[in-house]
Amino acid sequence: MRAPYFAANWKMHHGPHAAVGFIDAFLAANAPAPDRTIMLFPPAVSLEAAGRALASRPDILLGVQNVHWEERGAYTGEISAEMARETGARVALVGHSERRHLFGETDAMTARKCAAVVRAGLTPLLCVGERLEERERDETREVVLRQLDAGLSQLDDDGVARTLIAYEPVWAIGTGRTATPENASEVHAWIRGALYERWGERAARTGVLYGGSVNAGNAAGLLSAREVDGLLVGGASLQADTWSVIART
Ligand code: PGA
Repeated sequence: MRAPYFAANWKMHHGPHAAVGFIDAFLAANAPAPDRTIMLFPPAVSLEAAGRALASRPDILLGVQNVHWEERGAYTGEISAEMARETGARVALVGHSERRHLFGETDAMTARKCAAVVRAGLTPLLCVGERLEERERDETREVVLRQLDAGLSQLDDDGVARTLIAYEPVWAIGTGRTATPENASEVHAWIRGALYERWGERAARTGVLYGGSVNAGNAAGLLSAREVDGLLVGGASLQADTWSVIART
């Protein structure tokens, strides 16, 4: 088993003050753990403060929830991967289902964003996942692999090999409905198989995380599922004590 990943996606929670309070509490309770990788994704406005609070703990990776694909320009409200890197971010979520379904992010945009993230020297964490109606129509495999292919389409082999993937079924995000470990294993195996077929062994060794209503009660079961290399957690990552329990799974 690869060293597992534990990623906290705070979404639109925790401004700079709350982010630093969380990080101070989390660091005090959790010594560096070399057998796992912990990542925190605060809102963009909290990145700089979070980066400073994490300065003494390079074992914890700071991440940005979304970036634009250009380096700079007339894109009101957007930030670039380079700007995120300046704050200390080393990872960037791309194609989170809320970006896709609430803000109209297309497969073509995820491709450009992944490329921009790699160019800036960050690691993309590309999110893929089907909606409930797509699962009911038995289209899960097709949807997930289409999003995977599109998101990785502008990367060279090195870029693909360093990209992390998260499988997050849309029907499981923030709903309290989780995929079973068997559901997750099945889709993760499709993802791993596609990475191997299209980009070879090095790409297939990358981490594939599961996300969608993960909590302290179901984390161990999901993490022990075959092909699940880590967890991407939203709601249950907002309190430092609950997140500590999950990140010690
Ligand atoms: P959730 O969110 O854990 O609240 O379901 C996960 C995510 O959206 O990354």
